Amino acid sequence: RHCFTKSDDGYLYCEGLRVQDVMETAVERSPFYLYSKPQINRNFEAYREALEGLNSIIGYAIKANNNLKILEHLRMLGCGAVLVSGNELRLALKAGFDPKRCIFNGNGKLLEDLVLAAHESVFVNIDSEFDLDNIVSAARIAGKKVNVLLRINPDVDPQVHAYVATGNKNSKFGIRNEKLQWFLDAVKAHPNELKLVGAHCHLGSTITKAIDVAPLLLVGESVVDIFRDAAVLMVNYIDQIRDQGFEIDYLNIGGGLGIDYYHTGAVLPTPKDLIDTVRDLVLSRDLNLIIEPGRSLVANTGCLVNRVTGVKTNGTKNFIVVDGSMSELIRPSLYGAYQHIELVSPSPPDAEISTFDVVGPVCESADFLGKDRELPTPERGAGLVVHDAGAYCMSMASTYNLKMRPPEYWLKVMRRDHVSVDLALAQYLYMDRESGQQASQIF
Ligand code: LLP
Repeated sequence: RHCFTKSDDGYLYCEGLRVQDVMETAVERSPFYLYSKPQINRNFEAYREALEGLNSIIGYAIKANNNLKILEHLRMLGCGAVLVSGNELRLALKAGFDPKRCIFNGNGKLLEDLVLAAHESVFVNIDSEFDLDNIVSAARIAGKKVNVLLRINPDVDPQVHAYVATGNKNSKFGIRNEKLQWFLDAVKAHPNELKLVGAHCHLGSTITKAIDVAPLLLVGESVVDIFRDAAVLMVNYIDQIRDQGFEIDYLNIGGGLGIDYYHTGAVLPTPKDLIDTVRDLVLSRDLNLIIEPGRSLVANTGCLVNRVTGVKTNGTKNFIVVDGSMSELIRPSLYGAYQHIELVSPSPPDAEISTFDVVGPVCESADFLGKDRELPTPERGAGLVVHDAGAYCMSMASTYNLKMRPPEYWLKVMRRDHVSVDLALAQYLYMDRESGQQASQIF
């Protein structure tokens, strides 16, 4: 079951509510993000079920979506947090995450942020020689021993866009195995500052069987096998590390599971597929498993709702111009990423279907939300959504061309039995990100 569905009446619904009605009654301006809280619950539940029988931490990668309400909710469900900056750490603390279930990652962590991390007792990944130096200094300044994991670069190719692949040997992240001994000796040399508790790797993001990677696969190979490949390498490292007397308990296999951006209905690896490929390895070494999902927890829970400003044609190209743009949602421009686009209301039966580029008002040709989309010619003011915008969309939004950062709403189902009156089902919460004030509208 998915939160956004096109019904037989031609309207797009989110958890039983027409997106068109949300646009007309709830929201003062567009573009805006609309999230489904029940979908967040369902995505989390898939991970929780998959991890049954294992000692584990689900560390939500808050870079994917750092809306405070969403953070608080995922914390309440039981997530830890994965952080890549001091501000993300501060926000995670504000959202009430248990610091002992937080992991501070990154190839360029700043000393002052490491001091905060040491002070709060979050796990810290060692990424390089200078990073180790900084962590030692931070431990001294905070007067606390830091629980560290070694981020190992396993050189496994995740077959994703080069910009989001991180675990191959020429990437800027982690340490290569030939340096492992140097790092173990360095940790041993700092018994008052560092306690080695685990090993970490992260292969990359958008790992799927989606059509852009499928041709690269060998017959019979599943994309989750690369998680297995990486985990086999990692437990071998853990064996070597334990042989040297370190009592390490944590295997962190990072995040990376993709989602069905293409809406082809393709069967994609689920959290269960992922965990099942590594379960025996984790149990055989009596390890505590940390995973770091971002996208697969939140991407399909939200969309960007836009209004059509107008339609035009130049040369051989038709354009739908909307009020949203690369400023609010940059993934198509930055990665050539596909995100599914549809109109929120039915078109007249005689509406002409054409091929359109869906573009925003920003002053450059990189500003598009979708290319070559078959859509009915929309009326001015029609609602148009970009799907799967719950991850890496608002968190990557900018104010380029002095556009406003878009509001975010989420939809909670209050009473599922009350289906006859759609509007009675929902409450919208709007977080003003600048003031931190929360406004709510109850229908
Ligand atoms: N752990 C580490 C160390 C990471 O670097 C990342 C993502 C994650 C976990 C979460 O990965 P996920 O489960 O979300 O795939 N802006 C890009 C994605 C960048 C991902 C960066 N690292 C996009 O829009 O596709």
